[in-house]
Amino acid sequence: MRTPVTAPSQGELERQNGFMEKIAEINRKKDRKPRFFINTFGCQMNAHDSEKLDGMLRKMGYEPCADEKEADFVLYNTCCVRENAENKVYGNLGFLKHAKKENPDMKIALCGCMMQQPTVIETIRKKYRHVDIVFGTFNIYKLPELIMTNIESSSPVFDIWDNYADIVEDLPTVRKFKYKASVNIMFGCNNFCSYCIVPYVRGRERSRRPGDILSEIRALAADGVKEVMLLGQNVNSYGRGLDEDIDFAGLLRMVNEIDGIERIRFMTSHPKDLSDRLISAMAECDKVCGHIHLPFQAGSNEILKRMNRRYTKEQYLGLVDRIRTAMPDIAITTDIIVGFPGETAADVDETIDVVKKARFNGAFTFIYSKRTGTPAAEMPNMVSEQDAKANFNRLLDAVNPIVEELNQKKVGNTYKVLVDGVSSDPALVTGRTDDNTLVHFKGCRELIGDIVDVKITDSKIFYLIGELQ
Ligand code: SAH
Ligand code: SF4
Ligand code: F3S
Repeated sequence: MRTPVTAPSQGELERQNGFMEKIAEINRKKDRKPRFFINTFGCQMNAHDSEKLDGMLRKMGYEPCADEKEADFVLYNTCCVRENAENKVYGNLGFLKHAKKENPDMKIALCGCMMQQPTVIETIRKKYRHVDIVFGTFNIYKLPELIMTNIESSSPVFDIWDNYADIVEDLPTVRKFKYKASVNIMFGCNNFCSYCIVPYVRGRERSRRPGDILSEIRALAADGVKEVMLLGQNVNSYGRGLDEDIDFAGLLRMVNEIDGIERIRFMTSHPKDLSDRLISAMAECDKVCGHIHLPFQAGSNEILKRMNRRYTKEQYLGLVDRIRTAMPDIAITTDIIVGFPGETAADVDETIDVVKKARFNGAFTFIYSKRTGTPAAEMPNMVSEQDAKANFNRLLDAVNPIVEELNQKKVGNTYKVLVDGVSSDPALVTGRTDDNTLVHFKGCRELIGDIVDVKITDSKIFYLIGELQ
């Protein structure tokens, strides 16, 4: 069933363009434009892939719609990092079965990380026969061809690859925001943290060439983009395997030179690869934002070792110190897992100790989810749900007061805020400070995309309230 890895011929993009034109031609003959709906699960990698899928669908003559029941083409871009991400997809697919009964012409396509797992493909073939097109993370650029094959054969199309054949540049992309954009600088991951499925579903680490990245960012700047988010599972190992002699610090300095770009963000940084060269580059580049997302996952050295994170609690805290010495105002956020196999309450005390010492501005906290195929799934002493939850709550009780206190300290100060959108209260707009704190303040939608001064008047646990200056 798995397609062998074949390198796409030269001009793969032109081939797909050909399919896009043919499908656009077919769609032009319909009474009305067919509608599409993309549902994206998971991280920013997936969100960015969805922008490319969106761009291709529009080029093929589809138009977006807000209600998936109304769509002629429904695409789920899936995530499998934790079990509940997968359950959401299966739940929604059950619902789509009914929607398709009402609208038999509806096409359903699935892609993304979850589809890279053979057991998932088996389940879809057996239990979800209403699905029309399935592809993976390595061949999203083939969407036009897969739609064409499905039209011609009117039977389900499955096309999942085991690895990248090539990085296809220049796919049509529809950006969600005019003034900010994500840019992939690398794909895949080589770290194999023992709990994590990502290396298995996103393949080996591959960096894009600096020239390609820089020309993409220059084009974005020319198109009005002020803030770029450089994306990779571990940006700190950027450049490995490239002919050019470049690392992430060098890339940041180059992006910092691009006219029109005002803010540079990146994620994610693996602590084991964070170099002093990067700390200096961050401190010296005026456009690089004062925020770093630096997951530490666990505080116990024994657990860290079994997680295959390749740093100790002491090394992590030392790194936090070096970062804060170079950039005293920087915000540090993190990811933490509770309930890894064999983790005791005493191990979680070590995690809480890191939280208290590092004083994070925010933390994504997760209960360990067993992922079949990863080394941790085979480890003994699964933690009971009850124990994991109790430890999880203890952890939140340590994290939240610190986040609240750090936000409280901002009251009275004025910050530059990039306005992102209208808040749930339509009289308010929301935006982010340079250190990525969320701010709500009175303002109109015309401000969206502007960087404005906002004086902070109040703080809540997870956001600030301010006044436009
Ligand atoms: N590459 C990034 C993170 C990718 S996944 C990094 O290394 O930081 C995002 C977060 O999901 C991870 O940081 C981890 O905290 C969490 N995560 C990954 N696998 C998990 C699992 N099996 N159970 C619970 N949380 C998990
Ligand atoms: Fe997963 Fe670790 Fe790679 Fe992050 S660095 S994607 S947690 S294996
Ligand atoms: Fe991201 Fe989920 Fe895939 S976190 S890389 S979409 S498994």
